Amino acid sequence: MATGRLASADAPSGLQTVEPGEVIVHQHDLDIEPGFNALAAILPKLGEQPLPDGDALARRAISMAYRLGTKEHATAVLSVITNANFSSAVRAEALSALRDWSNPPARDRVTGFWKPLPKRDPKIVREVVERGFQELLAKTNGKLQADSISLMVSLGVKADEAEFVRLATDAKQEPNLRVAALRFLADRKSKQLDATIAIALKDRSPVLRAAARDTLAKTNPAEGFKSIENVLNQEVGDVAEKQSALATLATLKLPEAGKLVDDWAKQLSEGKVVAELQLDVLELLSAAKSPTRDAAKKNFEATLPKDSQGKFHVSLMGGNAEKGREIFFNHATAQCVRCHKVNDVGGVAGPDLSKLAMRNPEKTREYILESIVLPNAKIAQGFASVTFTLIDGRIIAGSVLKEDKMNVDVQTAEGKKVIFPVVDIEKRTVPVSLMPSAESILKPREMRDLIEYLMTMK
Ligand code: HEC
Repeated sequence: MATGRLASADAPSGLQTVEPGEVIVHQHDLDIEPGFNALAAILPKLGEQPLPDGDALARRAISMAYRLGTKEHATAVLSVITNANFSSAVRAEALSALRDWSNPPARDRVTGFWKPLPKRDPKIVREVVERGFQELLAKTNGKLQADSISLMVSLGVKADEAEFVRLATDAKQEPNLRVAALRFLADRKSKQLDATIAIALKDRSPVLRAAARDTLAKTNPAEGFKSIENVLNQEVGDVAEKQSALATLATLKLPEAGKLVDDWAKQLSEGKVVAELQLDVLELLSAAKSPTRDAAKKNFEATLPKDSQGKFHVSLMGGNAEKGREIFFNHATAQCVRCHKVNDVGGVAGPDLSKLAMRNPEKTREYILESIVLPNAKIAQGFASVTFTLIDGRIIAGSVLKEDKMNVDVQTAEGKKVIFPVVDIEKRTVPVSLMPSAESILKPREMRDLIEYLMTMK
């Protein structure tokens, strides 16, 4: 959500070239009711040809249609998802609007202002998606397609299962889509599910294999367990697949599953679990508690360094960068993107984090973790805030841009530059970071994904 709001609040500069653009943006943001219908109606027109920098406009037209909420409006929004003339960000926003349609969050989709809407009959979106589902699958791909399937599943849409079997088993399709198709079949308790799982378990994609194993554990726990055991016993193997297997193991109630959990508890307490899996094992032990498992956890935790990074020591390795990106842009309280830019999107209160680790090899995983948990430990250059009291009584607060033997160069919060002689300083505070610690905001798993994202961002 946050990205949507930010991106559209900073209306792209090309907007001026679109004649009715500014009018629309104003009518939407200032809540000028009489314009609503006309604005929602502009959606099909916007899609007639690619509109450079038209995102701000399209987002507002979607938002209008969403507020009005009828079947016709939902149909217009669906046609944005399947229309490649719109940017992928706008198409994703259209999908997200349909997802929220029946039960709208209280904030405006574009401006973030408090603007509650009533709940709406889920039949509206279900019927629209049911009618358009072939096109929805045919004209989307990748994540958008996978998300479309998830939407169909959550809406309980009626659809032809053979098409989903084909998607799940077609090695040429994106893994995300294949997983979504498999989930769709599982959700439907399809007769073709078992055969599809069997094929998926032998597939080359670790993501698909993990999803198939998770589904199998639900439909046939004994077989699911064998498959989990196999994966966890592999000498080498895909880390993410092992992580998923541990998560699936936590859901099994079989006695042999309990033994395997105990075995992992023992390995953890003996320091034999690789860094990438430590968090997963800790979560496994918390999901299925016992006194011996608790003791194993304690033993392991006692081996970690005693510092303020405590629970996040297991967050350094093994994260999922794609999920980390999601957190960076969308986490409701951490709000990283409000202060940091990544690839030209985001705020400027903090340093630009694009390719942070690639540009600065000294910014290691430990450094990034410390930056997030203890912002004051090492403050990025040019971002330390200091308050100076001068002998003439003036108080100047801001970040120190430059300091030498003669002068100090300060940029105030209002963006003004102030230079004063060092000899004029009566006292100064210790430098503090303007970044709030996210220690109590992020869970260890979120931290792990975030660190992976910041480390591997290209
Ligand atoms: C209120 C604004 C604000 C928010 C929100 C914020 N930061 Fe920061 N961040 C800053 C400032 C200012 C600095 C520079 C001072 C410092 O190093 O502490 C900084 C520094 C950093 C650094 C060190 C950068 C470097 O070049 O050394 C990292 C990494 C970082 N932030 C990550 C994050 C992440 C991840 C989040 C979200 C969980 C986040 N920040 C949220 C303002 C913010």
